[in-house]
Amino acid sequence: MKPAERPLPSRFFLAPMAEVTTPALRRLVRKFSGSAVLYSEMISAGALLARAPHNEPLTAKLDGDDPLVYQIVGAKPDVMAGACRILAEKQPFGIDINMGCGAPDIVKTGAGAALLKDHDLARRVVRACRAAAPCRLSVKMRSGFDRHDPAATVTLAKICQDEGVDFIVLHPRFGKLGFRRSPDWPLVKEVGEALSVPVIGNGDIKSAETALRRLYETGCDAVMIGRAAAASPWIFRCLEEALAGQSSDLVVPLEDLFLEGLDLIGSYLPERLHKSRGHRFCFYFSGNVKFSHNLYTSIRREESIDGMKRPVIAYFEKNPHERIIILSPAASPSAYSRDSRRV
Ligand SMILES: Cc1cc2nc3c(=O)[nH]c(=O)nc-3n(C[C@H](O)[C@H](O)[C@H](O)COP(=O)(O)O)c2cc1C
Repeated sequence: MKPAERPLPSRFFLAPMAEVTTPALRRLVRKFSGSAVLYSEMISAGALLARAPHNEPLTAKLDGDDPLVYQIVGAKPDVMAGACRILAEKQPFGIDINMGCGAPDIVKTGAGAALLKDHDLARRVVRACRAAAPCRLSVKMRSGFDRHDPAATVTLAKICQDEGVDFIVLHPRFGKLGFRRSPDWPLVKEVGEALSVPVIGNGDIKSAETALRRLYETGCDAVMIGRAAAASPWIFRCLEEALAGQSSDLVVPLEDLFLEGLDLIGSYLPERLHKSRGHRFCFYFSGNVKFSHNLYTSIRREESIDGMKRPVIAYFEKNPHERIIILSPAASPSAYSRDSRRV
């Protein structure tokens, strides 16, 4: 960890995830951690600038969201700068430039992971955003577009630093890899040593033990957690306690959180998003129960929040012993790793 001009508020970050990092999930995370850095869903800079109404729920900033980072995607420097100006009005902790998304409709516009192939354009995007964003500015990048390229990753990270980003997030897999193979965590160390701004490592962290190991092994300034946090928003409490050397059992009221998550989606998001966001939330959260596949299959037949709640309630009526999880410090906190201790 290096002394930063603008230090990070936490060593733990929630990864931006399309359709997942809704205000509802962020609220669940906040029940367990007041300081973890939270992210919005990815927001199209072009749509934001066009003031497309469908973007509005994605840019919501609720009490308790801070520190919140908005992630934007795009490849046109002036459009990205315009998006920064609009989002800066909400006074977020930060704005993040997506240089990792490999989705074909994003990449074909030159945005997301495609920026990893064009350092000159990437530089111009960062420069324009820096001039427009008074808050923290970061780049979340992968380690190459269609091949793992450590040297180019270091070069691009340095370009971003030279252009004034406050920190870099590195998911050390190349874009086309999706989630296959293992992330190259030693590259996080290499990039961290090459830069003076903080570097945050990301990829396949499923437990507090792994997170701490990554922090110590790589010397990175923070770790970012995606899928494991969507399944287990309490992971941040476990991480904070583990980092502080504290050890207490954590009682997780699983059924209540499941239903609360769905209710929050219902109250924070417009009806047209209930199905997509509800299903995504349930996909990850169902991983906490023994018969997750059966439960999720029933939920997927439903379109409304009330409809999705019904199979959840029925599941716990049938399996009341799964209503609460007690995590001992020795146990993994993440359902995503499927080894949490149940009582
Ligand atoms: C459903 C889903 C949606 C994602 N959407 C985004 C996104 O919009 N922007 C982004 O930078 N990364 C996105 N990611 C990647 C995550 O931010 C993160 O880099 C990746 O999941 C690795 O972290 P993890 O192993 O802790 O999940 C997404 C991942 C998932 C699973």
